[in-house]
Amino acid sequence: MFPTHGGVYFFLLLIQVASCARQFQHPEDLPGVEYDFITIGGGNAGAVVASRLGENNNFNILVIEAGPSNLDVFESEVPGLSHNIGFGTRVDWNYSTTPQIHVNDKVSSYGRAMMLGGCSSHNEMAYTRGSRDDYDRWASVTGDDNLSWNKILPYILKAEKWSGPNDPNLSEENHFNPSVHGSNGKIGVSAPYYPHPFNDLLFEATKDLDEEFPFLLDLNDGRPIGIGWGQATVARGFRSSSATGYLAHTGDNVHVLLNTRVTRILPTNNRTNDIHDKKGIDLRQVEFATGPEGPRFTLRAKKDLILSGGMINTPQILLNSGIGPKGELDALGIQPLIDNPSVGKNFSDQVSITITFSTNLTVTDFNVTDALAEWNQSHIGRLALPQHLSPLGWVRFPATANLFKNDSPDPTAGPNSPHIEFFFGGISSQNDSTGIGNPPPITTTTPNIQITDMFNRDMDGTVIGNISFTMIVVDLHPVSRGSITLASSSAFDAPLIDPNLLGSPSDTAILLEGIRSSHRLFLSSTFSNSIFGPITPPPSNGVLTDDTIVEFIKNNSTPFGHGVGSCSMAPHGAAWGVVDPEFRVRGARGLRIVDASVIPFVVSGHTQAATYAIAEWASDVIKRS
Ligand SMILES: Cc1cc2nc3c(=O)[nH]c(=O)nc-3n(C[C@H](O)[C@H](O)[C@H](O)COP(=O)(O)OP(=O)(O)OC[C@H]3O[C@@H](n4cnc5c(N)ncnc54)[C@H](O)[C@@H]3O)c2cc1C
Ligand SMILES: *[C@@H]1O[C@H](CO)[C@@H](O)[C@H](O)[C@H]1NC(C)=O
Ligand SMILES: *[C@@H]1O[C@H](CO)[C@@H](O)[C@H](O)[C@H]1NC(C)=O
Ligand SMILES: *[C@@H]1O[C@H](CO)[C@@H](O)[C@H](O)[C@H]1NC(C)=O
Ligand SMILES: *[C@@H]1O[C@H](CO)[C@@H](O)[C@H](O)[C@H]1NC(C)=O
Ligand SMILES: *[C@@H]1O[C@H](CO)[C@@H](O)[C@H](O)[C@H]1NC(C)=O
Ligand SMILES: *[C@@H]1O[C@H](CO)[C@@H](O)[C@H](O)[C@H]1NC(C)=O
Ligand SMILES: *[C@@H]1O[C@H](CO)[C@@H](O)[C@H](O)[C@H]1NC(C)=O
Ligand SMILES: *[C@@H]1O[C@H](CO)[C@@H](O)[C@H](O)[C@H]1NC(C)=O
Ligand SMILES: *[C@@H]1O[C@H](CO)[C@@H](O)[C@H](O)[C@H]1NC(C)=O
Ligand SMILES: *[C@@H]1O[C@H](CO)[C@@H](O)[C@H](O)[C@H]1NC(C)=O
Ligand SMILES: *[C@@H]1O[C@H](CO)[C@@H](O)[C@H](O)[C@H]1NC(C)=O
Repeated sequence: MFPTHGGVYFFLLLIQVASCARQFQHPEDLPGVEYDFITIGGGNAGAVVASRLGENNNFNILVIEAGPSNLDVFESEVPGLSHNIGFGTRVDWNYSTTPQIHVNDKVSSYGRAMMLGGCSSHNEMAYTRGSRDDYDRWASVTGDDNLSWNKILPYILKAEKWSGPNDPNLSEENHFNPSVHGSNGKIGVSAPYYPHPFNDLLFEATKDLDEEFPFLLDLNDGRPIGIGWGQATVARGFRSSSATGYLAHTGDNVHVLLNTRVTRILPTNNRTNDIHDKKGIDLRQVEFATGPEGPRFTLRAKKDLILSGGMINTPQILLNSGIGPKGELDALGIQPLIDNPSVGKNFSDQVSITITFSTNLTVTDFNVTDALAEWNQSHIGRLALPQHLSPLGWVRFPATANLFKNDSPDPTAGPNSPHIEFFFGGISSQNDSTGIGNPPPITTTTPNIQITDMFNRDMDGTVIGNISFTMIVVDLHPVSRGSITLASSSAFDAPLIDPNLLGSPSDTAILLEGIRSSHRLFLSSTFSNSIFGPITPPPSNGVLTDDTIVEFIKNNSTPFGHGVGSCSMAPHGAAWGVVDPEFRVRGARGLRIVDASVIPFVVSGHTQAATYAIAEWASDVIKRS
């Protein structure tokens, strides 16, 4: 599926020479160095921490990553090919949710990248920080003001390098506010877009409907409410990830062990008399293997282990190591080391619902072969940016909205925070099951575009065309909480992933109001000559009732891939939570968690910018101690 091409290989070789992190393909290749820090997972957060710690030449650092190097994955470089390395590919963990009882027992795939850079190497690249309230809520929930917006903003900016337009003909003027961006960081960010009449109409609508849908100059200014241009972790037509932005520029004191799975964390000294003391169990030893049957290797960190496996694998590794709810561990025959009922609990992911409209707007489908030729030559064109339509929308329901009553309070963190995101997919004549109007997965050489007639109907049921506009409505602040639990005690078995979608009635109510809101926008006069009515949820005899919409939501909701909270940070001395505000695992010494799993409440947006910020802040915390 991923042919090797001489040309790419040569090019990658050049990158490899320029970067200094030493990569090892097998545990037996390791050079026998004593490491000060060992990072478990070289993902979005893990790669940041490893490279920031590596800035001190006195430290030797090892990153253990389950997947291959990003440099071996061509599609990870080309922004528009992200869907080719998503679900069910050799760099995916191939996870799916448990049957979701509030969604007709629906099982959804749950993409998680397995390669250097983690999800930052395969995600949709949307760069959205969330609202200032989101960070202020973290500060109040964890009792640590260092996480507040004003304190964390320098770390957000430290990660960011605004890169400017890639295509000189596509000016970014008035597409963002330069004063709220960083220019000296590691991750390239820009506001790439492709011209399309949809964009023009959408921004036109912000004038007529400015109360509900005001124009938003910059969705990263701390108050993301309105409709604005998307920003993306793309620089000069290439994806920017924690692997390309951070790890690729470290000194050779940072080592990376690839294709190797951490199975457990072990007490540093396993004589039971010695492992407990009043400061907790010393947990600096890591066990790893290359397959379920293969030999187990162990290594000990002189200073700290940093667990950065992401919000699914981090709790899995803790549970397998005996850190978690005692009853659950006993049931699987795992010897409990630290009884902590919070491990894997409070898992939260945004809920998304894909809807479609009938339209006669120009399709956004394109010829991938031609676009790849253009990208290969000059790194511009449709593959030089994410494939979805470029603007993003954020709606905050008014305080008067009757869906927030006493028994279901407003789930957002404050008045600067939206309830709903509109993610505009594409406009397509294809019957496309991905829901984003993208071409189906292709090999890099043979496009396989299938055209299927799709009969769109207007509100009266009349066939009006075969083009549909697809968008996703997202409940940004789900009330419901789910869990990550073990299916078995083998580190090579997938854990049980239960986001408990729609577990709270207010999540359904928010999505209903979100779909109604999208109809107020797209059935407005601005779009009357181009968007003709909903295809799904389907109207009947010209009417779309709340009951039909709710049924549609309960049939089709999926997790959005922005999970957090499964190893939540809590105040010092709290009776709940997994890490303290210094990222230390409760009841342990020498073990910290740095990844999206520690985030207690999801931000009002996509999660990578917050993950970078947390990782930058954690690196400073670790360096200081
Ligand atoms: C399909 C998809 C699209 C997304 N799109 C966007 C977007 O457009 N914008 C945005 O902001 N966010 C997006 N996100 C979310 C965002 O990418 C993630 O929230 C973020 O990258 C998570 O970072 P992390 O460090 O917590 O985990 P990860 O990046 O997942 O890192 C975990 C790393 O640990 C490794 N690992 C796990 N277990 C082990 C083990 N046992 N041994 C060794 N290594 C291990 C993994 O292979 C991985 O490399 C998307 C997510 C997905 C899945
Ligand atoms: C996921 O599925 C792909 C395709 O079948 C496979 O190549 C890959 O190894 C799988 N990943 C894991 C972690 O099993
Ligand atoms: C967090 O902030 C407080 C007060 O500003 C400061 O004293 C403390 O050292 C900070 N924590 C860390 C880990 O730096
Ligand atoms: C920019 O536009 C000009 C004029 O339309 C065109 O000649 C040129 O090729 C374009 N440049 C790029 C990089 O597309
Ligand atoms: C515990 O120590 C013994 C003796 O040093 C060793 O053989 C064994 O592998 C250790 N077990 C673990 C889980 O580390
Ligand atoms: C979940 O988080 C809340 C705080 O938001 C906390 O009160 C509760 O104890 C947590 N539950 C568990 C099981 O950790
Ligand atoms: C895409 O373009 C290539 C080369 O220009 C052509 O051979 C191919 O038929 C086109 N594909 C489609 C689906 O139009
Ligand atoms: C673009 O480059 C990639 C990697 O070298 C190669 O696989 C692909 O065939 C090229 N495509 C075109 C259309 O030139
Ligand atoms: C869509 O319908 C038009 C008019 O009926 C037809 O000409 C066109 O071929 C159709 N397109 C596709 C992709 O089916
Ligand atoms: C689209 O494809 C799906 C699955 O292939 C099929 O179930 C559905 O009926 C198709 N829809 C249309 C409108 O052709
Ligand atoms: C789309 O349909 C409307 C209403 O029939 C028509 O006025 C308009 O010209 C059409 N636009 C295009 C691009 O075909
Ligand atoms: C929901 O799913 C059921 C069962 O598949 C189907 O009969 C019903 O039409 C669906 N409802 C909507 C609104 O999509």
